[in-house]
Amino acid sequence: MTIGVLGAGYVGLATAASFAARGFAVICADVNPERIALLKQGELPFFEEGMLDVFREAAIPVSFTLDSTLACKCDVVFCCVGTPSAADGSADLSFVQAAATMCVEAMPGAIFILKSTVPPGTSRAIRDAVRGRLRVAANPEFLREGSAVNDALHPSRVVIGADDPDVATVLSNLYQQTDVPLLVTDTMTAEMVKYASNSFLATKISFINEIAALCEAVGADVLAVAKGMGFDDRIGPNLQPGPGYGGSCFPKDVRALIHLGGTVQVPLKVLSAVATVNEERQRLSFDRLGKHLGDLAGKRIAVWGLAFKPGTDDIRDAPAVAFIEQCLGAGASITAYDPLVREAIIKKFPTVRLAPNAVAALDGADALVVMTDWSEFRAYRYADVTTQVSSGLVVDLRFVLQR
Ligand code: NAI
Repeated sequence: MTIGVLGAGYVGLATAASFAARGFAVICADVNPERIALLKQGELPFFEEGMLDVFREAAIPVSFTLDSTLACKCDVVFCCVGTPSAADGSADLSFVQAAATMCVEAMPGAIFILKSTVPPGTSRAIRDAVRGRLRVAANPEFLREGSAVNDALHPSRVVIGADDPDVATVLSNLYQQTDVPLLVTDTMTAEMVKYASNSFLATKISFINEIAALCEAVGADVLAVAKGMGFDDRIGPNLQPGPGYGGSCFPKDVRALIHLGGTVQVPLKVLSAVATVNEERQRLSFDRLGKHLGDLAGKRIAVWGLAFKPGTDDIRDAPAVAFIEQCLGAGASITAYDPLVREAIIKKFPTVRLAPNAVAALDGADALVVMTDWSEFRAYRYADVTTQVSSGLVVDLRFVLQR
């Protein structure tokens, strides 16, 4: 059984790595020549712990190519291309549609599996668009950046959405070796599992962020509140207040589900509130600066952490990006430090100065804002850090500094 993968991003490469580790022959194609050139040299286009080792140790080395037809001619083709937000909040499916067209031209009748996150109904729409000449199924991916390979190798669950029982069998057999819960259902339901899961996780974040705001107003300790709640296993221990959810998935998936609800006259009231709370939370650090420093023009702000979460160098929709944009717009200058993010932030904001370490970022700064909960920041004491910025203002919505 050969595995084709379209898209060499986080999901495509984790998929390729996990099937290669299980002994399958894998061909991974991407339309981005720089990405493929790097991969052919044995390098990754982004940081992901352990991924290179899995590629290096594969019994059959993964073949990386710009020629998508090679991937489409495999027994099973996983579509792992991006599904960003369109202007109206819906999922932009143009990459998925292009991949399907490519696949049907290269290999009519191919088994085309959507690992990309796509709105419910997409598998059927793609199947109809190619007039049934692809056998389309959905197999949503639940990996987390920062532990992508491990999650792909040891998933929390495998969800297979297939309207064709033969395709369901092929896919179930592919995951035979993984000892994890397997849900086999129709495509519409599988696609919904992914959106509902991400929306629920985003809801947890907005919920605890709203409780954090209330705790602050009444003088309660939100970390202790979260801990106390987490002992109830119906709630669980992973409630973590912060500057709002970001990254390449939650914001766009929440928007897409809200949009979908609108198109079928089922307004998603909870999820709309989740998005609103998140927008407010993402403005909080900036508002705090304004409140304490007044006019931000000419002020220098130190930022600790740029990635949307620790363990990755991904800054797509990161809270730090929104924050820096607000500060630069107000005339402030930024000195930032992140253990992994370098060129990507300069490409986005050429005036941002990058410090070689956390302490150096404080040099000449008027205030410090902590945007990512990298563990190295836990070594610093809140009280000490306040003395190293001229205004004494430290905004730590991640609660990483020692109190
Ligand atoms: P990405 O942006 O890192 O990678 C997508 C890749 O697809 C790019 O390298 C792009 O050049 C390539 N591509 C575009 N059109 C192509 C085509 N026709 N043929 C071959 N390659 C093509 O995206 P990422 O983060 O891997 O996400 C992919 C999908 O998986 C999205 O739908 C996302 O929502 C979903 N997802 C992402 C997760 C994450 O943590 N990043 C987790 C679970 C799902």
